[in-house]
Amino acid sequence: MHRRSTVGIMEQINEFLFRYKGLVFANGMTTPEYIDSLQSFQIRDSDTFLVTYPKSGTIWAQNIITLICESEGNQDEEFPNNLEKMPWLEFPEGHTDYSSRRSPRLFASHLLPRLMPPGLKDKKAKIVYVMRNPKDNAVSYFHFSHALSKLENPTSFEDFLQQYLAGDVAGSSWFDHIRDWYTHQDEYNILFLTYEDMIMDLRSAVEKISRFLGRDLSEAALSRVVEKTTFRNMRKDPKANYEFLPEDLLKKGQFMRKGMFGDWKNTFTVAQSEMFDQIYQERMKSLPLKFTWE
Ligand code: A3P
Repeated sequence: MHRRSTVGIMEQINEFLFRYKGLVFANGMTTPEYIDSLQSFQIRDSDTFLVTYPKSGTIWAQNIITLICESEGNQDEEFPNNLEKMPWLEFPEGHTDYSSRRSPRLFASHLLPRLMPPGLKDKKAKIVYVMRNPKDNAVSYFHFSHALSKLENPTSFEDFLQQYLAGDVAGSSWFDHIRDWYTHQDEYNILFLTYEDMIMDLRSAVEKISRFLGRDLSEAALSRVVEKTTFRNMRKDPKANYEFLPEDLLKKGQFMRKGMFGDWKNTFTVAQSEMFDQIYQERMKSLPLKFTWE
C-alpha cells in the first residue's frame, strides 16, 4: 500500500514497517514529515552524531561517547539516562526542539547520509560510525525483534534472514547502510569503528573516540570510561542498559544480550552461512572492508 504524504511517497510494507526515501522505519516511531524536517535541522560545529545500522553496538558506543564527554564537561546529573543524553535524531518522541540544548549536543541515528541534516557536510560536527559483521548483526537483530514490541516477531531465523537480506527490516539493508556511509565518507568528518575491534581492544577504541572528539583524557579518566563500558558493568548500569524503557516496549535484559562476536555460528546453519557468504561477496566486493567473523 502506498500513501502520498505531504512530502513524498510512503510505502507501507506491513503492519509494522514503512519505507520512505529508501529507508525502512518501524511504524509509530517517526513520520515522513519528521524525517524531511531534518533537512532544516541546524547543526552546531560542536555536535556529535553516533550513526549505526541497528544492532551494531549503538548503545555501547553511546555510553562510551557520553562518558567521554562527561569526563570534562560534567553533565552527569543533567539527564537521567543515555537516551536523554544522546537522543535519537529521527525519533521525535519527547523531543523535537533541541535548539535550546547546551553544547556539546549528542545524537544517535540509524539514518542514511541523504536523510541526515545537510549541515553535517560542513565537516565540523563529528560522526562516529560503528559497524558490525552482518552475521552476528543478523542474529542480534533476530533476538531483538522478539524483544521490541514495535517489531514483528519472526516465525523462524530462516524467515528473518530472508527479510534481513531483502532489507525489509527497520534500518533497511545492512549492505546499503555500510556502502552508503563508507562511500560518502569524504563528505563528512567521520570516524569508522567496528564492534569486533571494540570487543578485542576496548581501551584503544575509547582512546580513538576521545581523540576524534578532541578530548584529551588522562589515563585515569580513560580507565574509568573503559571500566564503565565493559559488557559486565554496563549491563548493571541503569542509565546505560536500557532497562529504563517500559516493559511493554522492550523486554528487560534484551538490549544487552550476549555482547560477543562469532556467536552467529550457534544460529546459522551451514547452508545459511554459505548462502550468506555468497551474497556478501557479491554485494561487498568493491569495498575494501574487512570484518572479523569469529
Ligand atoms: P547481542 O544481541 O549480540 O548481544 P545496538 O545497541 O546497536 O542495538 O546493539 C546491541 C548489541 O550490542 C547487542 O548484541 C548487545 O549485547 C551489544 N552490546 C551492548 N553493550 C555492549 C558492551 N558493553 N559490550 C559488548 N557488547 C555490547
